[in-house]
This record gives sequence, C-alpha cells and structure tokens, in this order.
Amino acid sequence: MSASRGEFSSRIGFIMAAAGSAVGLGNIWGFPTQTASNGGAAFVLVYLVLAFCLAYPAFMAELLIGRYGQANAVTSLQKMSRTLFHKRFAFVVGFGGVVCAALILSFYGVLAGWMMSYAVEPIARIVGVTNVADWVISQSFIRNALFTAIFMFLTIFIIQKGVEDGIEKWSKRLMPLLIVLLIILIGYVLTLDGASEGLNAYLNPDFSRIFEPDLLISALGQAFFSLSLGTSVMIIYGSYISKKENLVTLGAQVTLIDVSIAFLAGLLIIPAMYVAQAQGVTIFADDGSLVSGPGLVFAVLPSLFSSMGYIGLFVAFAFFVLMSVAALTSSISMLEGPVSYVVERHGMARKKATKIIGSIIFLISIGIISNVDVMLGLVATIATEYGQPIIAMLCCVFVGWIWYRNDVLMELKEGNDNAEHSVFWKIWPWYTKFVCPTAIGIVFIHSLNLF
Ligand code: PHE
Repeated sequence: MSASRGEFSSRIGFIMAAAGSAVGLGNIWGFPTQTASNGGAAFVLVYLVLAFCLAYPAFMAELLIGRYGQANAVTSLQKMSRTLFHKRFAFVVGFGGVVCAALILSFYGVLAGWMMSYAVEPIARIVGVTNVADWVISQSFIRNALFTAIFMFLTIFIIQKGVEDGIEKWSKRLMPLLIVLLIILIGYVLTLDGASEGLNAYLNPDFSRIFEPDLLISALGQAFFSLSLGTSVMIIYGSYISKKENLVTLGAQVTLIDVSIAFLAGLLIIPAMYVAQAQGVTIFADDGSLVSGPGLVFAVLPSLFSSMGYIGLFVAFAFFVLMSVAALTSSISMLEGPVSYVVERHGMARKKATKIIGSIIFLISIGIISNVDVMLGLVATIATEYGQPIIAMLCCVFVGWIWYRNDVLMELKEGNDNAEHSVFWKIWPWYTKFVCPTAIGIVFIHSLNLF
C-alpha cells in the first residue's frame, strides 16, 4: 500500500498545500467578521496570542502524528496505540476527524458556491446579460444547488488526481494568485476615502475587552478553524511530508502564513467597510456593532462595489474570485481526509473513492440547501464548535499520554539533527501533554455556557 501513497515532491509544495488548507473563507471572511464584532484590534491581539500559543502546538501534534504514521488519520493513530483500548480510541478520534472534515465540506461548499455566483455576477453585467446577473445573486434552491455542484466538481477534479498532480500542483498555482489578488485589492481600497478611519478601528486595541470570555472563545474557535485542526486534514498532509524535512520549521512557516493572510484580509475588509460608510452605506447594525456575517460579504461589500461605478465590477470580480480560490484550496484538503481513509482502509481506487465520497457530501449539501436558514448554522456549529475542538484536544491527549515519549522525540528529530537543542524540544512535549488539552477543554466547556 505504502508504495502507491503520494508524497509532496518539495518543501514548497507542502507549504503551499498546507497553507492552502489553512487559508480559506475562515481567514478572509471569518477573521475580519470576528474582528468587526469583537472590538477590533483587541480581538486581533488575542487571536495572535492564541494562534501561536495553543493552535500552533496542536497543529504540530497533528502533523507529527501523520508523519510518524505515514497513513490516513485512523491508521496513523493506531500505529502509536499499544492496547486494544488505545486502538479503539484511535479509531474514534481518527474517524471523528474524517467525519468532521466531511461535514465542514458540506456547508463550506454552499458558502463557496455563493462566492462563485457573486464572481459571475459582474461578468454577466459587463457582457450585458442583466437577468442572469440578477438571478445569480438572488437566493434560490436551484442557484444554490448549481453553484455548490460546480464547486464540488472542481474539488473532486483536483483530489482525484492525487497528492502531487492534484493537491500540490493546484495549491502552487492558486496560492500565489490569492496573495496577488489580496495585495492588489488592499492597495486599491486603502487609496479610497474613509479607509484611514477603518485602519484606525482595525489597529487600535480597546484593551478593556481583552479578557472578555466571549472574545477568548471566538478567537480560539477562529484559530482552530483557520489551522484546519481536529479534522484529520493536517494528519493526512503530515503523512505526505518526507522524513527529511524539518517539521517544526515547516509547521511554523505555515502558521505564520495563515496568520499573516488573516491579518492582511482584515486590512482589506475593515477599511473597505468604512469606505462603504463614506459612500453612504450603513455599516453598523442597530446595536451599534459593525455589520458582520453574510450581511458584510453579500450586502455591505456589494453596495460598496456598485457605488464605484464601472470599475466596481472589476473590483467585485477580483474580490469574489479571491474568495472562491481561498475556498477551493481549503475544500480539497477537507475531501482528502475521507478519501485517503477509504482508499487506504478499504482498498478502493482513488478516482472512484473521490467521486463516491464527493457525491455523498454533495447530497448532504443539498439537504442543507433545502432549509438553508436553519441547517447551515446547525451543521457549522456541530462541526466547528463541537467536533473540531474535541478532536483537536484528543489528538493532543494522544501525543501527550499514549504515544511513547521517546518515539515522539525520535520523530521530532527526523530531518532536524539539532532538535535537542531547541526550545521547542524542551517545552512542546510537556506543553502538549498538560497545557493544550486543559486550555482547550476549559475554553470548550465555557463555550457551552453551562455556567
Ligand atoms: N482553514 C480553513 C479556513 O480557514 C477551513 C478548514 C477547516 C479547512 C477544516 C480544512 C479543514 O477557511
């Protein structure tokens, strides 16, 4: 089996793929939205601390499990299990992650479909087919189903080609495109009236809000979603990294890219909102907070684009292409989790497994679309607020309590001869054993609002 497994052909291939998974709607939509509704820069500060102190160590745990196991999430976790109980526990954690990835993809595909439909709209206006332009941005079952199907088709198309020809090749093409689009859009928006007020709101922290429990919970959830934790995705991507690579540095580079792009997205979205305000668009909700969620992306920003006149069509197109590209490099990683599981555990051919699993997930999306107002939020909550933190926490428990400490250290040494002298070596094993599971557990229990 292992001979037919793929592997990233280069360091940059892995970085682009893992950063592609991490950078998605969570960065470009979720992060600025959370920032807007949680006191601006105070949120940014808390996010940065939590991303590096909690999400990064948990991210390393998942990468290390995968690189050690050289297999899908369940098999990798089972390789470090010594008793029957461990093996069962490994199955629950690994399979739980696979299911979580599938559930996330089922609602993420719907959101990505909206992004694509909003990218089609300006093109339709430029070409002069106004009725098509109006149709693609109005909510309907058919519109949602059509664009979700197109998006799922693209995801399946890439994943069935495998690790090197699919994930790596497309991540290497799409990630630079995403970064260039983001920078061009920031450069343009910052020249407009009102942008400096937005920058001010984004970059000046209101320190009084820093310890608000809700802010902490939102920031941690956002950091975990952004690094794709608790979904088996980073375990499987870790399993495709060569033993010659230094995992600690690679993991740090991916985290840095993820956090920087979220930060850059904030430099685009928050100033854009204030530019919209300068043009007469309402950007504050009735309770005085900044508009966030779907209202931000599908109402405030489109009003801004249309107030720009003809050039606004091109800006809108660039913005929604940016969103769609970000979503695609993430969705392929979500599909890879379940596909690698079925290919390796049940011996199914990759192409067939990809089509079958992609279709099943699409059917779940159809279920969501049929009652979008209720189902979208419900599936998102189950997968991201419950599934992800619990599974990410259990992965840390696995590394800290089940995996032999010596084996952990040996794996850390692969591709990194000087590992023993690093701070990471001294702190991380202990940190993953005690601090990560406890901190994630506390925040999770708190988020249930039991007390
Ligand atoms: N990290 C992605 C984002 O920020 C979402 C994601 C979650 C991707 C889970 C894979 C697995 O949008």
